[in-house]
Amino acid sequence: MGQTVNLKQRLAYNYLRDGSTKFLCYGGAGGGGKSWLGCEWLMQCCYFLPGTRWFAGRNNLKDSRASISVTFGKVAQWHGFTGYRLTNDGIEFDNGSEIIFLDLTYYPVKDPLYERFGSLEFTGGWIEEGGQVNGLAFSVLQTRIGRHLNDKYGIPGKILITCNPKKNWLYDLFYKPWKEGTLEDGYAFVQALVQDNPFATEDYIETLRNTNDKVTKERLYFGNWEYDDDPAVLCDYDAICDLFTNEHVKPSGVSSGSADLAMKGRDRFVAGHWKGNVCYIKLDQGYSTGKSIETDLKRMMIECSIPRSMMIADSDGLGNYLESYLNGIKEFHGGKQPINPEFDNLKSECGFKLAELINNRQIRVVCTDAQRERIKKELSVLKQDHIDADTRRKGIISKEKMKEILGFSPDYLDMLIMAMYFRIKPVPKRPKAKLGDI
Ligand SMILES: Nc1ncnc2c1ncn2[C@@H]1O[C@H](COP(=O)(O)OP(=O)(O)OP(=O)(O)O)[C@@H](O)[C@H]1O
Ligand SMILES: [Mg+2]
Repeated sequence: MGQTVNLKQRLAYNYLRDGSTKFLCYGGAGGGGKSWLGCEWLMQCCYFLPGTRWFAGRNNLKDSRASISVTFGKVAQWHGFTGYRLTNDGIEFDNGSEIIFLDLTYYPVKDPLYERFGSLEFTGGWIEEGGQVNGLAFSVLQTRIGRHLNDKYGIPGKILITCNPKKNWLYDLFYKPWKEGTLEDGYAFVQALVQDNPFATEDYIETLRNTNDKVTKERLYFGNWEYDDDPAVLCDYDAICDLFTNEHVKPSGVSSGSADLAMKGRDRFVAGHWKGNVCYIKLDQGYSTGKSIETDLKRMMIECSIPRSMMIADSDGLGNYLESYLNGIKEFHGGKQPINPEFDNLKSECGFKLAELINNRQIRVVCTDAQRERIKKELSVLKQDHIDADTRRKGIISKEKMKEILGFSPDYLDMLIMAMYFRIKPVPKRPKAKLGDI
């Protein structure tokens, strides 16, 4: 008999049953059978391992109770299983096993460290819709599993996480390392799209495919983790992609240049030659010395006809040194006063200007494919800081924060931001009234 199976769920079960995986992240798209897998796995664990205790958690208790119990009911019916009953707190099995619904809401004031989980002891568990859950919950729950009859049955404590794409701890711990082939021991990721799930109805697939909202479609239908719906992101994703093909932006006017300096492989040394709003990435070096930077930058300025006064480089560290050799170039002091007092400093003002020009398709960057991918990533962390505070001056998130998200230094982004120095205009002051005007 030809049997229909969801192969991705099968693959997930391999990880859930092996002796080495501790944490499995499953999904990363809509409709791939995430909720089903969570319920079915826990049902089997409870059934085959009498007396065990498992958690099933979401970012809020009402959601856990409502959605998990409904799916669980469907799964049980599919398997013709009736040996359980739903309670207020979870699901009790006739053999003494239980699933406990956990409220994973983060309370920064009341319970900033999830101390309320401190005394709980589980065999293992499941975090559903992990994208909405604070990463700290995952850390704390790691210490609460493997503590209830694991010895008796000889099984390791495991956590299954199901989720849609989300640039948070899931991206950092699972998706990105999985893509790059650098997953840590004990971690596994299974990407499951709706196309992988033979049980998804045509209706369900159609709805996803016809989603009007581009971000939702990219994330849930295509399983695209790079599509961010973070309201703090300043450049929209399509505009970032267009940056490299905006051929209507023509080179024009006096040349200018911008450079992010770095020595000895700490960060990258990146320099761009600008003709109007067309940026040609000219220098890009992983390893450079003070001397080589000086020589290369000088050569670039001569070759590209960049006047000293139209060349800007960061000042922190190297700029000072360089200025004494390349007399007359501008140093960029990001922390200085902005021209427009709406912003918290000069770098923020330039960052917002960059986003504005990118979103308006007024910039073109000419570079290699590898550079393009990197620039796209870096622009995704050009984010507004303290977005919820409407009283503060506008700012962008710190370079430290950007590094934390990216895992590397946003060197191209800094180079692009600095170039905006020549493009932010002083706010025109009202001309002083002459006596005769009154
Ligand atoms: N192994 C299976 N056997 C039978 N039906 C399944 C199985 N896996 C998934 N399904 C069915 O496929 C559909 C989608 O599955 P499910 O709801 O688990 O996906 P999901 O990834 O949680 O979706 P969503 O993104 O909407 O949360 C459901 O109708 C579910 O009942
Ligand atoms: Mg689901």
